[in-house]
Amino acid sequence: MLKNIPFVDLKLQHQPLESELENSIKEVLERGDFILGQAVGEFESSFAQICGVQNAIGVACGTDAIALGLQACGITVGDEVILPANTFIATLIGVLHSGATPVLADCHLETGLIDLETAQKAVTPKTKAILPVHLYGQMVAPSKLQDFAQTNNLIIFEDAAQAHFAQTEGYWAGSIGTAAGFSFYPSKNLGCFGDGGMVVTNDPKVASKIRTIRNYGAPSKYVHEELGTNSRLDTLQAAILNVKLPYLKAWNSDRNQAAQKYNTLLSPMKEKGIIPMHNLSGTGHIYHLYVIRVTEKSPIERDTLKEKLGVAGISVGIHYPIPCHLQPAYQSLGYKQGDFPHSETLARQILSLPMYPVISEEQINRVVETIIQIVDN
Ligand SMILES: Cc1ncc(COP(=O)(O)O)c(C=O)c1O
Repeated sequence: MLKNIPFVDLKLQHQPLESELENSIKEVLERGDFILGQAVGEFESSFAQICGVQNAIGVACGTDAIALGLQACGITVGDEVILPANTFIATLIGVLHSGATPVLADCHLETGLIDLETAQKAVTPKTKAILPVHLYGQMVAPSKLQDFAQTNNLIIFEDAAQAHFAQTEGYWAGSIGTAAGFSFYPSKNLGCFGDGGMVVTNDPKVASKIRTIRNYGAPSKYVHEELGTNSRLDTLQAAILNVKLPYLKAWNSDRNQAAQKYNTLLSPMKEKGIIPMHNLSGTGHIYHLYVIRVTEKSPIERDTLKEKLGVAGISVGIHYPIPCHLQPAYQSLGYKQGDFPHSETLARQILSLPMYPVISEEQINRVVETIIQIVDN
């Protein structure tokens, strides 16, 4: 019988690292420095270095990285922050938790990334920041973002939760603007064994403010100078990330190669309406997700394809089935169906195929052969 193909395979990815991970965890147990311990500082330094920025500050998760990061950049109640409707809901939650008002913009159909022309229409005198999301592992073009921010006098805060070590136009994700947020959710390209996040910035004042905010707003014990919270990257998670970080580059490159293989094998399916999302950044795309579109031209609906792949033992996902503006909890923002047509089209058409660094050629072949069989029948 054929083996099932998972959507991600963390177990297989971690197997060769087992003894390194055990040692690193043991060191924390021996030191007992569970909160803001040695491993946190070590990981912050290494992570800042790979992002090409001066400071990295570990926080509890990617959502907090956005919320605390925006707050530290001076974004507050009454300010507006522009973000794409086509993103994971955490981007929107991060903005709301900073106190600011989220203002949505549509995306490009071919990439799913924010469309800066529609974003321009959303700018008002209250707009203070643009929050691009480097979705699926591909960066929004830095030059265009910087022009946009400069024209409108805005700060850039990147949501790089899906883009660890992605690159384009000579920039690493996280180094384009004032600050950026990362997530270390387990299935991310760099994931820990629970929740974790990071804010990176070149601005020393922003960095020191985040360090304070994440630790009850206290620069020194029991002196609370900022409106803070408890949002620290656990030492144990940092110890795990210290082990995994040196492998990130190779893992990203494996993902990129797997994506190229998918692209080649799927290319005859274009005429049947099965279209991979465009890669505009070559090897700088780190393929957190490999996403195809099942367009109107396809003889089969996306949901039927998904179901049949499941029956064939192939796990797939949809990122994301409901765009932010149509999520029930956020109706008070005042958006309605039809406001962001590209985001709505993608929500109906997209399908994420199995993607992880250790995916084999044989597995990719089987995924594509199965898609072809289903579509042709
Ligand atoms: C685009 C995006 N932004 C933000 C987040 C939030 O990260 P976390 O789950 O660590 O809070 C995630 C991941 O979950 C994400 O994919």
